[in-house]
Amino acid sequence: MAELYDVMSTLRAVRKLRPDPIPDDVLERVLQAACWAPTGGNTQPWRVVVVTEPDTKRALQDIYAPEWERYAVAFLKMMADRPADELASWERVAAAGDHLAANLHQVPAILMFCANPAMMAITDAKLDRVSMVGGGSVYPAVQNAMLACVQEGLGCTLTTLHCTHEDEVKAVLGIPDGWATVGMVPIGYPVGKGHGSITRLPPSEMADRDRFGAGWP
Ligand SMILES: Cc1cc2nc3c(=O)[nH]c(=O)nc-3n(C[C@H](O)[C@H](O)[C@H](O)COP(=O)(O)O)c2cc1C
Repeated sequence: MAELYDVMSTLRAVRKLRPDPIPDDVLERVLQAACWAPTGGNTQPWRVVVVTEPDTKRALQDIYAPEWERYAVAFLKMMADRPADELASWERVAAAGDHLAANLHQVPAILMFCANPAMMAITDAKLDRVSMVGGGSVYPAVQNAMLACVQEGLGCTLTTLHCTHEDEVKAVLGIPDGWATVGMVPIGYPVGKGHGSITRLPPSEMADRDRFGAGWP
């Protein structure tokens, strides 16, 4: 069984997924992991729709693919003047994203995470900035599900581009008023080797002792 740190340090975006079905017991464990996540006041103000029907997946693909294309074109334009090797690696990411967008309807399951702000105490709701605390009662569940995917040998990626067409997504999935869609996670067995090494800044860049900017250690 993989160690927790190994699982956390290999959870990268896996966008090329095989259509092979996921056994129900595996899906159940992934969902159970999501349910273990903490939420403000333990209200568990989220739900997840596990989409497996071909027509429904196709409807989500129809919504997602044009948004991905717009995003990828703008992103690669922004990266155009980066060094050639860096640009090449972003082009590989974009190609994998193109593959996901083109094949979303063929992945075996799409997890659509929903959240209900009325069930949350959102402590930063009245501040003069974008509110973020509410996400803290759903993204830990998303992350737990994704960590469980790594453990189960399933590829996955958190995606959010569908949110620009949330009303359409809600209509497709019958999501009631009051609920938001906060993350769409396509999951499936990987085409290639799947999860693996990641590039992230280390604690010396991300953490400070006692005062912001003081440095670590
Ligand atoms: C909030 C959030 C939104 C994201 N939205 C998308 C998305 O819509 N489509 C996509 O292909 N990847 C999406 N990603 C995946 C990131 O692009 C990816 O995690 C990041 O580039 C790091 O890549 P790596 O995990 O492979 O190292 C999203 C990730 C996060 C955390």
